[in-house]
Amino acid sequence: MTYIFAHRGSCKDCPENTMAAFKKAYEDGADGIELDVQLSKDGIPVIIHDEKLDRTTNKKGYVTDYTYEELTKFDAGSWLSKSFSGEQVPSLQLFLEWIAPLPMLLNIELKNNIIEYNGLEEKVLQLLHHYGMEERTVISSFNHYSLVKIRKMNAYIETAPLYSSGLYEPWEYVKAVWSQSAHPHYKSLHPYIMEGFKQNNIPVRPYTVNSQKWMNYFFEWGTQTIITDYPLIAKQLLNNPSP
Ligand code: G3P
Ligand code: MG
Repeated sequence: MTYIFAHRGSCKDCPENTMAAFKKAYEDGADGIELDVQLSKDGIPVIIHDEKLDRTTNKKGYVTDYTYEELTKFDAGSWLSKSFSGEQVPSLQLFLEWIAPLPMLLNIELKNNIIEYNGLEEKVLQLLHHYGMEERTVISSFNHYSLVKIRKMNAYIETAPLYSSGLYEPWEYVKAVWSQSAHPHYKSLHPYIMEGFKQNNIPVRPYTVNSQKWMNYFFEWGTQTIITDYPLIAKQLLNNPSP
């Protein structure tokens, strides 16, 4: 059975990476949530995708130029709809407090491939430990040095390299960066690549699988997880496959 992870929460119905989107993902029956983490000016892990605030808040400039206190004052919902005007940029701590009692899996993507946030890995690991979330979390990143750093600090937490295309024998690459699973762009997953992962017992979680054709393809393959903007549709398709 394939797990369904909600990409940035249920980001088509609610503003991405907000508590509204995460709560909707839970209501939609998603098995897990994918989210993006960066650091505020005062070093607090916060959940937001872009390095800049411009696209998803009512403020301009870099996330790293504002303290967490300042970030909480910005509107992270109105860009999608006025009905979400109360939404904030959540801290990772606030999110973990919410998800810890729920039976959900978690994928934290460290957004440190453009800005290398000093201490991001340590802070995320400390929070996961504090909330007892280590066993149901996978940490991914496009910055693969960061994944090796995580592994050196914590021998148990699962890590996964994110990549878009063209890796030669990616199951070997996963091992080379001391990881246990792979988060590739879905279009890079040709059958012989899928077979290579399977032979090497490496779970694969393709992103971002939004068409029903591709969802069915991955379900048929027995892919461990898909990351999608449409968790409700994916769950319905999985539970009621067309004849
Ligand atoms: O983690 C999967 C996916 O979120 C990676 O790309 O840009 O949506 O964060 P992006
Ligand atoms: Mg992401």
